[in-house]
Amino acid sequence: MSAPVLLQVVRLGRTYTEGERTRAVLHDIAFEVHAGECVALLGRSGSGKSTLLNLIAGIDRPDAGDVTIAQTRLTRLSERERTLFRRRHIGFVYQSYNLIPTLSVEENLLLPLELNGWEPEKARAAAQQLLSEVGLAERGASFPDRLSGGEQQRVAIARALVHEPALVLADEPTGTLDAETGRNVLEVFNRLLRARGKTLLVVTHSKEVTRFADRVLTLEDGHLLAQTAEVVW
Ligand SMILES: Nc1ncnc2c1ncn2[C@@H]1O[C@H](COP(=O)(O)OP(=O)(O)OP(=O)(O)O)[C@@H](O)[C@H]1O
Ligand SMILES: [Mg+2]
Repeated sequence: MSAPVLLQVVRLGRTYTEGERTRAVLHDIAFEVHAGECVALLGRSGSGKSTLLNLIAGIDRPDAGDVTIAQTRLTRLSERERTLFRRRHIGFVYQSYNLIPTLSVEENLLLPLELNGWEPEKARAAAQQLLSEVGLAERGASFPDRLSGGEQQRVAIARALVHEPALVLADEPTGTLDAETGRNVLEVFNRLLRARGKTLLVVTHSKEVTRFADRVLTLEDGHLLAQTAEVVW
């Protein structure tokens, strides 16, 4: 029996208005992701990848269609409810790390746990565990700007997983890293995801990512192309 559907995207559409002009950026997007799957999302610059990810994360709202995560229909939630849902159930890795510069590495990991009401001792243990799994156990007291790009992205990956989210979203997680550092970060990311059976949707231009993905989706001008079962380069 296959794993249950964790993410369901139904006839999703997003239109942007600039002045007098409206432009459809996503058209009728529909797909499902099963629990434990790792799905890569490819597409040219401007094809709508980040827009789609932001709709799934509930950061942005669609003009049409629905996003359902673990049986919760995001489009039915208020903005406040969506924020709470995202905090609890979604982990997000950005291209540019997005760590909070005024907090130490450990505090960056503790923040989402505090916001979710974790007991301090349990939160500290979880943060320490994740930091050691990304190979940064000794850097908890450092501030993000003291870390290399690859190290900062490993902290960001730890932060995206520490609250045990159901769904992990990543928008070009190796986009700013050199090839070797990128490979190293991906290796850590993949290992953590697989060990926890996490579900990932990752926007990427990297062949390394599509190699470890179970499935690849491709966006072209806001349309989802027919899904390919296997990646062929
Ligand atoms: N807030 C906005 N207002 C108007 N247009 C927008 C807005 N955000 C995105 N767009 C437009 O929507 C289209 C898709 O943008 P999006 O950022 O989703 O592309 P992308 O596939 O992530 O590209 P990249 O690979 O460069 O990150 C682009 O044409 C972009 O200009
Ligand atoms: Mg983008």
